[in-house]
Parts: sequence; structure tokens; C-alpha cells
Amino acid sequence: MRMRASRLLLFLFCAMLTHAEKLGFAQRDPYVLHDCSNTGNVSSNSAYRKNVNTLLSSLSSNTQSHYGFYNFSVGENSDRVNAVTFCRADLIPIDCQNCVGTSAEELLFRCPNQKEGIVWYMNCTVRYSNNSIFGIMQFESMQHLHNIINVTDPIGTFDQVRETLLDRLRSEAAASTSTLHKFATGKASSPYFDIYALLQCTPDLNQQECSDCLNQSIAKVPTCCGPAIGVRVLTPSCNLRYENNHFYGFTLEAPPPLSSTLAPPAEGKGSNSSRTIIIVVAAVVSAVLIFCICTCIYLRMRKQRKKVEMDEINSGAESLQFDFSTIRIATDNFSDVKKLGQGGFGTVYKGKFPNGQEIAVKRLSRSSEQGDQEFKNEILLVARLQQRNLVRLLGFCFEGNERLLVYELMPNGSLDHFIFDPSKRLHLDWKFRYKIIVGIARGLQYLHEDSQFRIIHRDLKTSNVLLDKEMNPKISDFGMARLFTLDQTQANTRRIVGTYGYMAPEYAMHGHFSVKSDVFSYGVLVLEMVCGRKNNYFQNGENTENLLSHAWKNWREGTASNLIDSTLRVGSTTEIMRCIHIGLLCVQENVAERPTMASVLLMLTSYSMALSMPSRPAFLMHSIVESDISLDRSFHASQNVVSMTDPYPR
Ligand SMILES: *[C@@H]1O[C@H](CO)[C@@H](O)[C@H](O)[C@H]1NC(C)=O
Ligand SMILES: *[C@@H]1O[C@H](CO)[C@@H](O)[C@H](O)[C@H]1NC(C)=O
Ligand SMILES: *[C@@H]1O[C@H](CO)[C@@H](O)[C@H](O)[C@H]1NC(C)=O
Ligand SMILES: *[C@@H]1O[C@H](CO)[C@@H](O)[C@H](O)[C@H]1NC(C)=O
Ligand SMILES: *[C@@H]1O[C@H](CO)[C@@H](O)[C@H](O)[C@H]1NC(C)=O
Ligand SMILES: *[C@@H]1O[C@H](CO)[C@@H](O)[C@H](O)[C@H]1NC(C)=O
Repeated sequence: MRMRASRLLLFLFCAMLTHAEKLGFAQRDPYVLHDCSNTGNVSSNSAYRKNVNTLLSSLSSNTQSHYGFYNFSVGENSDRVNAVTFCRADLIPIDCQNCVGTSAEELLFRCPNQKEGIVWYMNCTVRYSNNSIFGIMQFESMQHLHNIINVTDPIGTFDQVRETLLDRLRSEAAASTSTLHKFATGKASSPYFDIYALLQCTPDLNQQECSDCLNQSIAKVPTCCGPAIGVRVLTPSCNLRYENNHFYGFTLEAPPPLSSTLAPPAEGKGSNSSRTIIIVVAAVVSAVLIFCICTCIYLRMRKQRKKVEMDEINSGAESLQFDFSTIRIATDNFSDVKKLGQGGFGTVYKGKFPNGQEIAVKRLSRSSEQGDQEFKNEILLVARLQQRNLVRLLGFCFEGNERLLVYELMPNGSLDHFIFDPSKRLHLDWKFRYKIIVGIARGLQYLHEDSQFRIIHRDLKTSNVLLDKEMNPKISDFGMARLFTLDQTQANTRRIVGTYGYMAPEYAMHGHFSVKSDVFSYGVLVLEMVCGRKNNYFQNGENTENLLSHAWKNWREGTASNLIDSTLRVGSTTEIMRCIHIGLLCVQENVAERPTMASVLLMLTSYSMALSMPSRPAFLMHSIVESDISLDRSFHASQNVVSMTDPYPR
């Protein structure tokens, strides 16, 4: 009851804040920020200025589709004007176009006789210069806007949460290879506030430049706008924004077919001929579109398939589809020498494309009764999941009975080869292990919450965590459950995929899966990382124990430090103990008590956050599922209430 009342209060408070925020921002309307660089003035009837007028006016005329980022230029030699337009990643073309149009007009008005200028409007940036600006990172001329309302943060974790979120999104945005959008969005929560952020670079920057640019912008935040609930930092090449509400929309992944076919305005004069070209192109495109639509309708009627989006599948699938022969050559005809391993879903081979790119090819054992189109559809969904802690799916191949998935190759192999190997384990000091623990949490959280589709991995374990050359962890085999239609009704499945030892009991026994069953697997993995041993049965004195019962016993007896892998000589004991604590919270038998991955991440990154006491883990699973060891024997690991004041008793 009290809980409910306080939630209601919190809700009202948030609603007030949201409302107040609108009032706060509405004070400057229309709010356009601009910067007319003072590198030089030109007279308004010079050839250069005429080109500026031509170029910017053409941007505000409505004939082009705009979507993301474009560069344009007009004129020659010293009279050449270059411009770029840059929209927020989630804008639909018409909003982008309107924004670019308005901004271009503003720019003509606000910088009437300057050689260079830039305007930031609500949703877009327009910039021109006599210098070449394409592919050049620039963060000078940084502007910011912030809300006048401050965050309410009695526990004082806002800075930390924000910093973690922005930093994560910075690397995600920088790693994007899209030619129209280089951005990342995400959310972080704490009991008192949520923060939603969007970070974006012009896609002509490379990874390092984007990262640097955003880094500068992030560094600006504490000094300019520390406690504000909404902040924007704007630079010519990148921008960041966060709010306490979900301000960004659904993001489209690929430009609609029209905008990619329509050329940006032609250089120089010849606008007549370019218009003719545009008309011809538009006609051709419409004809093609009409043909596609007819084909679509025809196919749809014939196959009576429900929601198969042909356009998307065909355009998306082609770019991801590889020839079988290409892959056969890359893997030396799937030679045994190239075999990397065998998993539940098929065999994995190492391969190399003629251009030198190394790949891992998963040759699926054909067991799914799924239709081809659905299979492709699922692959496209999975291919869109991109985050630095997920192994990247480069494409697939689909010929006859062959179904192959092509991934980036992870040179260091899987985590189990390190952590359970007596000699290799020595190389995994605490710093690495912690990095891996946090990285996996990030990847999993993305699957659960940040991607457009909620993905439950269902088979998270050390052998599904691969390591890149810097030992960054990347989760593999995500989306496999999606790729194979399981006989499932909502959240129940009759076919249980997964690995005993990592499976939550409700899943192993009843087939109930949820994000919390992944949290369970994650908890097992964390404990394995700390203890350096597998969660299987071992003899301990008289008792047969598994890792979870062993951990729980030590935890309750205040000897949790016995659990720590003896090869971990250096490392923060508090951090290690905190990981044991978090691991135990994740493997609790009571599903509702297990934290979400978002809170796990917060617990891992924010030391000031107090952790609740774990209740009994579900360590009985093995005995139930794998053997007939009497249940009672392990059951009396008692349900006494844990009452400890020192969270980390020796
Ligand atoms: C350019 O013109 C602006 C006014 O339009 C003026 O403020 C500025 O000082 C001029 N800059 C130079 C370098 O002449
Ligand atoms: C955009 O910039 C690139 C790189 O400088 C150039 O190759 C391309 O022609 C430019 N496009 C336009 C329309 O100016
Ligand atoms: C900015 O984009 C949003 C959609 O994300 C739209 O609702 C809003 O009207 C746009 N604002 C302006 C000033 O164009
Ligand atoms: C652009 O104008 C500035 C100032 O007049 C000049 O220094 C620079 O060389 C010009 N750049 C080009 C590419 O002409
Ligand atoms: C928000 O915090 C800033 C900096 O601490 C302070 O100057 C400002 O007055 C605060 N605003 C409100 C509305 O309390
Ligand atoms: C970002 O900036 C911080 C200091 O502001 C620095 O420690 C960090 O290495 C930078 N990161 C990157 C990727 O440049």
C-alpha cells in the first residue's frame, strides 16, 4: 500500500517535471542556434554569395527527400560553396525535409554576408563553408541548451549513471558504419530518474573522429549543465541530447527507396537538365515501385502470407546474402582443419574472404520447419541488432538445403577456454574478468531492453561469450531462438534449448522463459568468473555440491571470500565481493526478486548503490533435471532469513 502511494507520488512528480520541461524550453521559440564564423565577409553580390543563395535555396525547396546526412556543393574554385545537412536519426523524411528547409532559410537570414555558417534547429543542422567540410571533424563552435529544471537525485548517482550511459552510447555510435546515420540511443534508470539519450555523429567521420567529437561534447556536460534534466550539446560534427522522457522515436534502419535514388542537387548551374533527370528518375522509380507493389499484392494473394514485408526483405536481404560458392571457397570447402567448434545449432568454421576479412561461418543443421521467408525475415531482425558486446552477423547464405550464418571472427575464441583452463586462467586477472562481466551485462541489457525487439537469449554461458583481440566480450548465438521457430505459445516452450547448469529452474522444468531466466544464466556466469570453476557437481567433503549451493553456503556462513579464485591475487576485494553478491541476486530462486539487467548494470557501475540481500538460489536444478539425487538432501539448505549487517562478512 505504502509502496503504491509512493509510486503514485513519484508518477505525479514526474508528470509535473515533464510538463515543466516543456514550459522551460518553450521560452525560446523558435529556438535556433547559429554561428556565422568570422573567417571572412563577402559582399552580397559576389559570385560566392550567389552560389550560397542558390545552394541554400535549393535545400529549402521541397523537391528532394532528406534522410540523415547529405553533402552538396555549387560553384568552382574560390567560389565553390560546400554544404551539409544532417538530421536527427529518427526523423521521417518529411520532418527532416521541413527542418532542413527552415534551417537553410534561417541560415541565409542569420549569416547574410559570411563565408561560413551553421544553424542548429530542433531536429537538424545545416552548415555551409568555402572550405571542404565533408569528412572533416569539427567540434569547435560548440553550443549547448539545457533545461532549467534539475534532476531530483537524493541518492546522488545521477552523474555516474549519466556518464556511464553517455560513454556506452559514445562507443556504440562511433562503431556504427551506416552511411546515413551514425548514432546510438539508450536509456538508464535509477529509482529516482530515467535518462534517455541520443548521440549522433555525421556519418562521414570515422570511428575515432566520432568518438573524439562525442567525447568533447560529453566532457562539456558537467561544466555547462550538470544537474539539468534535459541537455543538448551541439557541434558541427556531432551532437548529444538527453532528457528525462523518451524523446526519440522509432528509428528506421535504411533510407526509403526514393531518397537513395534521387540525386542531391547537381553541381553548378544546369538546373534545367538536372530537373529533367530528376523527373525521369522519379518516373522510373514510380514505375518500379508500382511494379513492386503489384508483385507484392500478387504474391501476397497467392501465398496468403500475413505480414511479410517484401520490400524490406528483398532490399535488406540482398545486401546480406552471400553466395554459397564464396563461402565454400572461404572455408576450404568446410574442411575439418577449419572447424572451430560444434554447437547445438550446427558446426562453426573459420574462413577468409579474398579481401582478407576473416569470418566465422555457422553451418546450421537443418532442423527447422520454418519457411524460407520467415527465416530470412528473422535473420534481418537479428542482423539489425548491433552493439559492441554482441558478435556481429555479417550475412547469411541460403541455397538448397544449406543455411549458413556468417559472423565476424573473434580471434580469442570463447570465454570457457580461458576461464576453465588452469594455465590460461592465470592471464585473466580481475581487471579483465570485471571488464568481461560488465561487457556481457551491457550486451544482454541491449538484447532485453535497448534493441527494438526484446530478445531473450536462452542459452547464455561462457562458451557463448567470445573474446575479441582486446579481450572485449561479445555474446554470440543471440537470436538463435528466434531463427528457429520453437513450438511456443507466448512465453512457454515445449522445446527447451539451453544448457543445464545455466538454466533457470522455471525454464528447465516448466519451459517458462523470460528476461529473468537470462538473468539467472548471467548470475551463474558471474559466479563462475569469480570462482574460476564451472557450475557442475563436485564432491566437497561428504556433500555433493554445485557452484551455487557452494556459494550460498559460504555466503551464509560469512566465508564468501573462500569462493574467490585463488589465482586472483590482485584486484579490489570489495569489487569481487560485490560481484559475488550481484551473482547471488541473479540466481535467486524467486524469479521476481532477480534484478533486471538494467539494474545489474547499475549495481556494477555505481558503487554507492546499496544491494539487497539475496534469498536462496535455485541450485537444485541439476539434481532434478540431470540425475535422481534425492531432492531432500540438498533441500534443507534452509530458508532462514538472512540477517547480516555487514554485507560482506569475511
Ligand atoms: C563581418 O560582418 C559582420 C556583420 O555582418 C561583422 O560583425 C563582422 O565584424 C564582419 N567581419 C569581418 C572580418 O569583417
Ligand atoms: C560529397 O563529398 C564527397 C567527398 O568529398 C564527394 O565525393 C561527393 O561528390 C560530394 N557530393 C556532392 C553532391 O557534392
Ligand atoms: C522534430 O521532430 C519531431 C519528431 O521526432 C516532430 O514531432 C517535431 O515537430 C519536430 N520539430 C520541428 C521544429 O521540426
Ligand atoms: C575560405 O576562406 C578563407 C577566408 O577567406 C580562406 O582563408 C580559405 O583559404 C578559403 N578556403 C578555400 C578552400 O578557398
Ligand atoms: C539547477 O542547478 C543549477 C546548478 O547547480 C543552479 O544554478 C540552478 O539554480 C538550479 N535550478 C533550479 C530550478 O533549481
Ligand atoms: C575521452 O575523454 C576522456 C577525458 O575527458 C579520456 O580519458 C578518454 O580516454 C577519452 N576517450 C576517448 C575514446 O577518446
